[in-house]
Amino acid sequence: MRIAAIDQGTTSTRCLLVDDAGQCALAGARRHARYHPQAGWVEHDPEELLRNIIALLESAGPVDAIAICNQGESCLAWDAQTRQPLSPVLVWQDARTATALAQMGEAAELRSKRISGLPLDPYFSASKLAWMIRNIPAVAAALEQGRLRLGTTDAFFLDRLCGTFATDWATASRTGLLDIESGQWSADLCALHGVPIHCLPEIRAVDAGFGAIQGIPVKVSIVDQQAALYGHQCRQRGDGKITFGTGAFFLALTGAQGLKPADLLPTIAWKKQDEAACYAIEGGVYDAGAALEWARRIGLYSALEELDQFEGPTAISRGIVFVPALSGLAAPYWDRHAAPLFIGMNHATERRDMIRAVLEGIAMLTAKLVATAALSLPLGTRISIDGGLSQSRYFARFLASACQKTISVPSMYELSALGLASLCGLDISRMAGAITTHEPDRLVSQHDHAVFAEAIHRAGAWRSQLVARG
Ligand code: G3P
Repeated sequence: MRIAAIDQGTTSTRCLLVDDAGQCALAGARRHARYHPQAGWVEHDPEELLRNIIALLESAGPVDAIAICNQGESCLAWDAQTRQPLSPVLVWQDARTATALAQMGEAAELRSKRISGLPLDPYFSASKLAWMIRNIPAVAAALEQGRLRLGTTDAFFLDRLCGTFATDWATASRTGLLDIESGQWSADLCALHGVPIHCLPEIRAVDAGFGAIQGIPVKVSIVDQQAALYGHQCRQRGDGKITFGTGAFFLALTGAQGLKPADLLPTIAWKKQDEAACYAIEGGVYDAGAALEWARRIGLYSALEELDQFEGPTAISRGIVFVPALSGLAAPYWDRHAAPLFIGMNHATERRDMIRAVLEGIAMLTAKLVATAALSLPLGTRISIDGGLSQSRYFARFLASACQKTISVPSMYELSALGLASLCGLDISRMAGAITTHEPDRLVSQHDHAVFAEAIHRAGAWRSQLVARG
């Protein structure tokens, strides 16, 4: 069997060909535009994403099955009859609903946490779908005429490509509208946000089948982070992985029981046909690859090799710190108003000190997620990582030290695609390639953690002070 595994991410769409002879190869990748019409707004063009998926499938050659994973939470509105988009994709990083959510109050926050496990944060789809109804006349008109569809990007792709208006349990658990225990849309949360429940897609098991594209079955559909968790072969409670894409996402399995950890998120890891749902806890750093991209754009480095060429003491041990809060701070801080911050430079500071501080800042924020998770769940001694940043040895070593965990790095780093292949029934045990491990050492000290905590405090305070001053 030969599978086309499509990974539709925040920065690009990639297609991997995976077969039962153990071969796994990148068939193609396409980047897409990101639009920022206002500060804090992040959008994609749904038609561009769709065109990229179609082009990659066409160039992949003959396959027996297709599996798709999608960026979580990003969502849109479209017309049920024409299937034309009525809104852009509002990306998970988009913070336009932050003020509206803050005004909903504490009782609403508690209701959201009790039913979906999620706080009221613009990260999730719920407030964005409500925003579209309130602010885009074509969306309101389609609702009036009974032809509105609302959903995460997967539901749009599947509707357009297969005529199947469906999503899966794991993706649905990222919307803020799902009752995380029953796996059904919550009428209560839909009413809370003003999202008409009848406009939402059917929810299926991740391997239930989602129709066909030109006769080729779409066997699996699941959100990308959960696909990567599966691809890392995390199966036991406490097994964890971190994927470094546009953002960085740590997920650790909790098994058949959902946990509601303080400050991190409960999520559905996967729900397979004829099996009970499997749960995980999740914490994210909004800007990982996105922070590096920004650093390259402003000239802090030009080639990836530079991310490994550091000598002497760490930047943080010399007091040079970067807090990568370009889109605010996610778990465990949940502060959309936090500002990115560089601190501690002097006349001797060079560009390479600053890019080093960017890498270290991403690792320190990620380590905080792991430490927060460990308060509610006994974690294993090893965490497996993937994605672009995992290829920097300096970064992986620093992360091992900051987390005090062994960090394993498979040489094949498209783990979401491997997860898709595995969910389709392929044996992926030999596909991850050689594993490099980094043991925790003393590169990062307790003093460094304290310094970083102080920088986080200042990043959080900065914008609030500006807001307070008007
Ligand atoms: O929750 C957002 C996440 O699914 C995005 O993943 O790989 O595009 O950063 P990535």
